[in-house]
Amino acid sequence: MCGIVGILGDHEAAPILIDALKRLEYRGYDSAGIATVDAGSLGRRRAMGKLVNLSDLLMHEPITGKSGIGHTRWATHGAPNVINAHPHRAKDVAVVHNGIIENYKDLRDELTAAGTVFETETDTETVVQLCMSYLNEGLSSIDAAAATIKCLEGAYALCFLFEGEDDLLIAARKGSPLAIGHGDGEMYVGSDALALAPMTDKITYLEEGDWAVVTRSSLEIRDADGKLANREMRTIKVDAGKTDKGIHKHYMMKEIAEQPTVLADAIGHYTDAETGTVSVPNLNIDFTTVDKITMVACGTAYLACSVAKYWFEQIASIPCEVDVASEFRYREPPMSDKSVAMFVSQSGETADTLAALRYCAEKVAKTVAVVNVAESSISRECDISLPIHAGVEIGVASTKAFTCQLIALAAVVISAARARGEMDAAVEQELHDALNNLPGLINQSLAHQSHIDAVTIDLAKAADALFLGRGVMYPLALEGALKLKEISYIHAEGYASGELKHGPIALVDEHMPVIVMAPKDDLFDKTVSNMQEVMARGGKVLLVTDQSGADTAGDGVWKTIIMPPVHNMLAPVLYAIPAQLIAYYTAVRKGTDVDQPRNLAKSVTVE
Ligand code: AGP
Repeated sequence: MCGIVGILGDHEAAPILIDALKRLEYRGYDSAGIATVDAGSLGRRRAMGKLVNLSDLLMHEPITGKSGIGHTRWATHGAPNVINAHPHRAKDVAVVHNGIIENYKDLRDELTAAGTVFETETDTETVVQLCMSYLNEGLSSIDAAAATIKCLEGAYALCFLFEGEDDLLIAARKGSPLAIGHGDGEMYVGSDALALAPMTDKITYLEEGDWAVVTRSSLEIRDADGKLANREMRTIKVDAGKTDKGIHKHYMMKEIAEQPTVLADAIGHYTDAETGTVSVPNLNIDFTTVDKITMVACGTAYLACSVAKYWFEQIASIPCEVDVASEFRYREPPMSDKSVAMFVSQSGETADTLAALRYCAEKVAKTVAVVNVAESSISRECDISLPIHAGVEIGVASTKAFTCQLIALAAVVISAARARGEMDAAVEQELHDALNNLPGLINQSLAHQSHIDAVTIDLAKAADALFLGRGVMYPLALEGALKLKEISYIHAEGYASGELKHGPIALVDEHMPVIVMAPKDDLFDKTVSNMQEVMARGGKVLLVTDQSGADTAGDGVWKTIIMPPVHNMLAPVLYAIPAQLIAYYTAVRKGTDVDQPRNLAKSVTVE
């Protein structure tokens, strides 16, 4: 999704804007631009592709001024090209926007009828032309922006900059997050705290429907009704230094390698070594009265929920429903006031997940967020917010967030099982120990990277791939397929092993790798039968299993990846590592953009 920055500073704005936009690159984009005001004169520069192209342009055609706005664009309306790049400008006003203005066509028609000539097909240009029309009517910059915002429907984070106004930014938020940064004699606007981290850790988050008048010495926030609103200024711990790649070629590899450390942090947060127990701070839910758990998320976060469904039902004996947010919110399922709704999201800003939360908010007993960004919208709007302690995740492909989400969810499951009398102290101790052994097992798995790299030599030549898993490993098969497809662009599908004969086995031939995620658990023998059906038809099986599984069923398979033995419940956490590495090394071989795969964004803040 798009990234927004704004600054009212006491140094030249252009280099600071570019640096802040670099920290938003992880969101995915196809063009970028900035605008500044210098002694009242509004200037603009935009470029296609990566930020380096905009920096090169500014070297040759600099713009000056200590006030400015910047944007990285992930195209929604209008092709990715310079003319559609932000900031959009209409003579005396420039705007940067993240989101979708749903009524832009009606507004555009009215403006066109009144004589406005549009340059682009974008929804954002409608915003800036509408604002200019109010300026032409004689409204002040602030009133023109306020009148414009009132007309907009849909989702937006906006920042306005005006000709003749060296000390004014107007910021507005509805559906897409926006933060105000407080500096020393400077003020900033940003899509998230990460963008502003080097300038300040003092952040005020705009709430839904808020708009703000920002000057170097003041911040006035008004709510959707136009009333003055008092929003808390928080100190946000974002270590800007942690957003570099370190020794790694890609953020994704760095984040895969961080998993032993960040999982240890997450496990440490949710377990107590002295008592050998698992606990979730602030989980004020009486699970003995809970009749159902509903979990809603998107993408990899949805697959973490799908793993947790097996756990809630098998370990805590609580009925559990899981759905992708984009379906759930329109399915409008009846909800019980005895149920708990959980929303899992790395960014905490995914539009569909946020909308699903708002659908559930007044209907269930408690809403619970499982997020990686503590100050995010989903976190702030849920009754309870559970951190996953994954640290900043930059790579578009979610890796450490997925495994840390599973740790947080496992802790909730164990707490619920204990509360409902479904788990005794001995079993809890066993799971406590299994959780605390995980970081070491992940380290062992990471030590075999070169073997996995070698496996991908042939995989990278494939056009299609099939991932199979049973039971709690079925969602892991789906996750392996998602990882591979989203960064290597190989068409990959995940399937329940038992479904093979109901269709997918027709795909099997000597060209399509079949990756089987199967620790030697209670369902292993059934999965082996499926695997043999594949091999009997010339299929190439890559078996990901433990030593016992390899000894039992490794003969005849195309390739094997052997994992350390792990507690059955936690196999999806450990086996996520080979799934991630298979995707990573395949993508590197194919030369795709591992950290910012084509067409994808890190946080999908629009429907
Ligand atoms: C996963 O690798 C993808 N990047 C994507 O599916 C992601 O998990 C999904 O967009 C949900 O994002 P969230 O966790 O920030 O809500």
